[in-house]
This record gives sequence, C-alpha cells and structure tokens, in this order.
Amino acid sequence: MEILFATSNKNKVQEAAEALKPKGITVKHLLFGHNEIRSDSLEDIAREAVQAAYKKCKKPVFVEDSGLFIGSLNGFPGTYSAWALGKLGLSGILRLLQDMPDRSARFEACIAYHDGSKVSAFEGVCKGSIAIEPRGSSGFGYDPIFVPEGYSQTFAENITLKNKLSHRYISLLEFSKSFVSGS
Ligand code: IMP
Repeated sequence: MEILFATSNKNKVQEAAEALKPKGITVKHLLFGHNEIRSDSLEDIAREAVQAAYKKCKKPVFVEDSGLFIGSLNGFPGTYSAWALGKLGLSGILRLLQDMPDRSARFEACIAYHDGSKVSAFEGVCKGSIAIEPRGSSGFGYDPIFVPEGYSQTFAENITLKNKLSHRYISLLEFSKSFVSGS
C-alpha cells in the first residue's frame, strides 16, 4: 500500500520510506509547509497539522512532529527544536550545556495519521546524551551531537544505527502495526 507523508523535510521522508518498506508500505512525499501551532505537546502539534494536510490533499495522510528534549535544560528545546537550531546552531546548544554534568537527552517523535474519518497518534522515544562536540556528517538537525544510550557514536556518525533506534523509527513501527491489526 501507499501512504502520503506531508512534510517539508526530505530527510524525514527518506527515513520513513526505509522504515516502512519492509512492512510493505510505500511512502509518497506530499510537500507541505505549514505554520505549526505553538504547544509543549508534540501530539497536539501533529494532530493540528494533519488536519491541515488532509484539507489540502483529501486523502489518507500522516505528518510527524519531533524534537530534542535536554534534561538539564528542563526539556528545552523540545517542541521548539527547529527554531532553536536555527537561532543558536549546534554550537549555541553546546554552549548552554558547558559545565553541566548531566548531558542526558531524548528525542521524541509523534506521528498523526488522518485516515479520512479519524486521527490517530503514534509516539516514539530514543534516550541518549549530548556529545561534547559535533561528530559525523550524516543525517540532519541535532544528529551530530546526539549519542543514543548504550553507544558511543553520534547518529551522524552511524546512520545505520540511527535507522534502527531512532524516535522516528519507533513511531513508524507503531504506526505500521496499526495497518497489520486493521485498526
Ligand atoms: P519539526 O520539523 O517541527 O518536527 O522539527 C523538528 C526539529 O527537531 C528538526 O528540525 C530538527 O532540528 C530536530 N529533529 C527532529 N528529529 C531529528 C532527528 O532525527 N535528528 C536530528 N534532529 C532532529
């Protein structure tokens, strides 16, 4: 089967296509730019965005909202991750963590799927920590500074690892299960 993924981020589309292909699902990109609502909840943001995407395409469609939540910064940048990266860059984020003993962080993702009549949400979390300096060149966003729990390489140094562990992969796996069970 084929499902539309409404996003402006091509990296997300590639990750979704790779994760869902083994499940027999083909991901088709719907180029979609949208002014997200402001909220501390990824799910609220995703649910609102998928309504807008559905209005545009009038076909079953999903969106995904994600962010990096840093423990010692009380969850910042969280749902403001794209904005914070644009304003501060990786170096600015690393400066905020200078001399902080706790570098724990987690990525979270929430998929919202509009099937034509209702919206369902699927979440994924990946725990890890923030590296001392950026390492690696694969992936996007915060990948060069995120080290998943139990490993020493950043996502940007080991994209194969990212594609097996990431918050996005986990949310996509949950999403794919909803088709198998027919719910
Ligand atoms: P969104 O497009 O509103 O979901 O913004 C999410 C932002 O969080 C992205 O622009 C990235 O900065 C960051 N982010 C989300 N997922 C990832 C990831 O898998 N790797 C690195 N950064 C990510």
